[in-house]
Amino acid sequence: MSKPKVFVSRIIPAAGLDKIKAECEVDLWTEQMPPPYEVLTERVKGVDGLLCLLTDRIDGALMDAAGPQLKVISQMAVGYDNIDIAAATERGIPVGNTPGVLTEATADLTFALLLAAARRIVEGVNYIKAGEWKTWEPETLLGADLTGATLGIVGWGRIGQAVAKRASGFDMRIIAHSRSPISEDGVKQVDFDTLLAKSDFVSLHTPLTPETRHLINREALRKMKHTAILINTARGPIVDQEALYDALTDGTIAYAALDVTDPEPMQPDHPLLSLPNVTIVPHIGSASVQTRNRMAEIAADNLLAGLFDKPLRHQVKPK
Ligand code: NAP
Ligand code: GLV
Repeated sequence: MSKPKVFVSRIIPAAGLDKIKAECEVDLWTEQMPPPYEVLTERVKGVDGLLCLLTDRIDGALMDAAGPQLKVISQMAVGYDNIDIAAATERGIPVGNTPGVLTEATADLTFALLLAAARRIVEGVNYIKAGEWKTWEPETLLGADLTGATLGIVGWGRIGQAVAKRASGFDMRIIAHSRSPISEDGVKQVDFDTLLAKSDFVSLHTPLTPETRHLINREALRKMKHTAILINTARGPIVDQEALYDALTDGTIAYAALDVTDPEPMQPDHPLLSLPNVTIVPHIGSASVQTRNRMAEIAADNLLAGLFDKPLRHQVKPK
């Protein structure tokens, strides 16, 4: 029997790729940059399965270009805002993702950003490099305490809860805003405006959806404390970046730390990068060796399950 044909849109860790190679005829995209949409549309023609990344736009037209034999789309990420789930559902194509295995790594990165912002770590590094460190100074590079501060979690899901767990170890007060009821000792569920008004740190953990696009807009930023620190490790477009730039320059809020931007990649001459009160890293929330291995493994398992008519380990809810 001939092996199923698959397209894998980037080199992924061997923990997943080797499993796929053992069972499938693989067309692997080996370049550093993702395949442009038009190229991807050509390359998926005739494949039975597609393993994609969050940098690939997967819409109905692409599914149709692949052809009616396309049995599964497997994304190596938990977020799937780049995939038209309704279009996949309409065509009876299951979509897999990789929830859970990246929760702790992403929560760690969120907390790293939170601490870096609170204690002005990047500013401190730049201060030394600029030759400004002359002596120990009583009032230089003063930051914010975590103990007793209020952390507002937007999106009480896997990562939001893992961030709260870390925050409770630092004796922070935790409030949260989410769609579903929250029943967690020591966590107060509040409406969005209350969260903005009461939080010293606001951390975003919702998926990107039509409802969450620009959730943090000019109006939301105006409701935050002047001393507030905004952390975004969810998706760039949840924050209106122009409004954020203005809020950081006119003192509406104090600091922002971002793992995700809109668009990605952020160009080095972007105005936000010129501000001292911003720390931005290049979408590395899940970037630990173990986590990426596990993500690749699940993505491979999802792909193979779909190809061989088995239930996916993690299937995105059809629309
Ligand atoms: P999750 O478990 O599904 O959590 C998402 C939470 O957001 C859920 O509790 C959901 O509520 C809530 N939510 C959805 N829409 C909302 C809205 N309009 N207002 C308030 N709350 C809302 O997902 P997760 O695994 O924690 O991942 C969250 C997101 O993080 C992903 O979608 C992805 O975009 C991002 N992410 C980024 C990185 C990175 O590298 N930076 C890594 C992993 C994930 P319900 O329970 O009612 O659905
Ligand atoms: C990363 O951003 C993911 O959604 O897994």
